[in-house]
Amino acid sequence: MGAEVRLGDLKREGHDQVERRTIGAAALAVGAVGLGCMPMSWAYSASRQRGDESLRAVHRALDLGSSLLDTADMYGPFTNELLLGRVLKERRSDAFVSTKVGLLVGDQHIVANGRPGYVKRACDASLRRLQTDVIDLYQLHRADPEVPVEETWGAMAELVRAGKVRALGLCAVGARSARRPGARLHDATVRQLERLQQVFPVSAVEAELSVWSPEALQSLLPWCEARGVGLLAAMPLGNGFLTGTLTPGEGFEPEDLRARHPRFTAEMMAANQPIVVGLRRIAARHGDDVTPAQVALAWVLAQGRHVVPVPGTKQERWAAQNAAAAALRLTPQDLAEIRGLPAAQGSWE
Ligand SMILES: NC(=O)c1ccc[n+]([C@@H]2O[C@H](COP(=O)([O-])OP(=O)(O)OC[C@H]3O[C@@H](n4cnc5c(N)ncnc54)[C@H](OP(=O)(O)O)[C@@H]3O)[C@@H](O)[C@H]2O)c1
Repeated sequence: MGAEVRLGDLKREGHDQVERRTIGAAALAVGAVGLGCMPMSWAYSASRQRGDESLRAVHRALDLGSSLLDTADMYGPFTNELLLGRVLKERRSDAFVSTKVGLLVGDQHIVANGRPGYVKRACDASLRRLQTDVIDLYQLHRADPEVPVEETWGAMAELVRAGKVRALGLCAVGARSARRPGARLHDATVRQLERLQQVFPVSAVEAELSVWSPEALQSLLPWCEARGVGLLAAMPLGNGFLTGTLTPGEGFEPEDLRARHPRFTAEMMAANQPIVVGLRRIAARHGDDVTPAQVALAWVLAQGRHVVPVPGTKQERWAAQNAAAAALRLTPQDLAEIRGLPAAQGSWE
């Protein structure tokens, strides 16, 4: 513990200038902005998923120092890891690979499986698909209600001892709709993290964090910052809304998660436009080529030293734009303006 483990030889041209962040007790070093790979194979506009374009997006992100590639065995399922394997085969040392275990996809449902034997088999399968002999960060996607989480975590710790995995992480679940009055969104996750720490150190937590979903700042981020645990900010672009490129009422493909999302009805997208207008105003102050997406990512980066946004995209141009957000510094005035934006509305909230 304590010695910095430098993962990835990022001394390619330009990489020396890219901001790095460290996560976990072993100080794993990653580019400040990561790449979420989910939209390449899962949950977003399936008709626009194209392997070649996705591969270009991954290469471009790595070229620009976005070393953390966030995937999961269930994205696809399996095809997202297979896609990344094609890149990792050629340039493993440029990347920091984060994948996940614990969810199985059926025809009509998704179930948790946290049995130790399953976790070990799933890890071997992920390693094969990713064409690598080690996973940098192995995350528990969801705890299995049928298995004590310590047992699942213990099996994951054995994978670290076996050299198949470098560090462990947990994905936070916070259901806004199921919350008791007065309870904070991530209180249950923090209790779970305390239990896991008794078994093996947690290096990172992945949770939604964005301008329109800031709840992780309440209890989860302080817990992480106090322990040097990385917070991988999922959905940092508000599932695309905060980029200002979506038109209310345009509609989504049936398999797109936004087709059933309470903030993506035409009415709610229109109601939440003042948030995008605010981000656009701030972007304009920083230059003609600065975008609301970059302001949204810079806001996430400004929340803590161990926070790493993982914006998801399957498009090379957006991977490049998002990576460049690592260089954008918001002023105290910008941050105050974002704090003053109206809270997001959703049709079920
Ligand atoms: N642990 C978990 O349970 C969990 C849950 C959700 C997400 N995640 C991780 O977090 C990552 C990020 O979340 P997310 O992908 O759901 O949401 P997101 O990053 O907030 O938004 C993704 C959407 O934004 C679009 N986009 C990306 N960059 C853009 C830009 N610069 N300009 C305009 N549009 C842009 C993408 O379009 P295209 O698709 O057309 O590229 C995609 O539709 C995921 O990829 C996944 O790795 C983890």
